[in-house]
Amino acid sequence: MALSESEQIAMWEEVLRLCNVNDQETVVVLTKPEARPENVTAAYNAGIEIGATTIHMAPHIGKSRLCDNAVAMDAMRAADMVIDLVGLHLLRGGERSHVLAADTRILYVTEPPAALARLMPREDDKRRVCAAGRRIEVAKTMRIESAAGTKFECELGEYPVLYEYGYSDDPGHWDHWPAGFVATWPNETTARGTIVIDRGDIIFPFKTYVQTPIRVDFEEGYIAEISGDFDAAYMQEFIEGYNDRDGFAMSHVGWGLQPRASWTALGMMDKAETNGNDGRSFYGNFMFSTGPNDDAGGPRDTPCHLDIPMRNCSIYLDDEPMVLKGEIIPEDQRAAGF
Ligand SMILES: [Fe+2]
Repeated sequence: MALSESEQIAMWEEVLRLCNVNDQETVVVLTKPEARPENVTAAYNAGIEIGATTIHMAPHIGKSRLCDNAVAMDAMRAADMVIDLVGLHLLRGGERSHVLAADTRILYVTEPPAALARLMPREDDKRRVCAAGRRIEVAKTMRIESAAGTKFECELGEYPVLYEYGYSDDPGHWDHWPAGFVATWPNETTARGTIVIDRGDIIFPFKTYVQTPIRVDFEEGYIAEISGDFDAAYMQEFIEGYNDRDGFAMSHVGWGLQPRASWTALGMMDKAETNGNDGRSFYGNFMFSTGPNDDAGGPRDTPCHLDIPMRNCSIYLDDEPMVLKGEIIPEDQRAAGF
């Protein structure tokens, strides 16, 4: 479905209003040459439509690091809102945390307009993601099980909760449109047991559906063994390629809460056209990841990072079910409709 320019501007305007942008605020649209021109144009025009002071900023990022560009960094810190079409969190100079520390709100966007339209955020998404996050905030343990053979647990409390609900409305909040999930990071050395990535589960950044189950055994926070067939060998070799033991560490764990995100979407899209937030967000998934935890304030900053959303898992916090076989259980996290 092709969206007209005016439809795209209207959709961005709706999201910027959810982000509490108003005519007293300043919005920086941060872009790079590879950013989708449709998104650049629509974000910029939506800011103008709302009456915000709107700035299109395209700093050169090459050998020179964005964190060393004082004018660009100061502009983002002085703004109320940054529409990030670059990926500040992907840069290695601490750019995102530096901007957030000034209470600037950041909304990261990379998906094509059709995916943005299909996954328009709603206030109800925030309500349910926050309900889930509050449960994690007070939990001491997370346990995961599945009929495919998963039996995994970890302790919680050392690291913060990641809330992704698709728009950024609070000072210093980072979010990603589209999204809809909650996550945290296990306490150091506590991730233990077995996760079986089953046929049909997704691995990012490969952007593929697993065809042969992968058994991943964890001990003291790290992968001790990866076993299986082709998919296991591929995963193992990919991580080994970084020559960094931290690539084998457990990273974030959590679950998807977005009923409009779809498990099947990735199969319909050109790999280069999506970064795959349908897969990361689909309702009732269990997503774990491997590698870094420096985003959360932890010691591991390896660039080797896999996100692995899985179906049909059960997730318990302190023995209380949050998800049972892919179904969200707590009433305040359940989506009433699509
Ligand atoms: Fe991740």
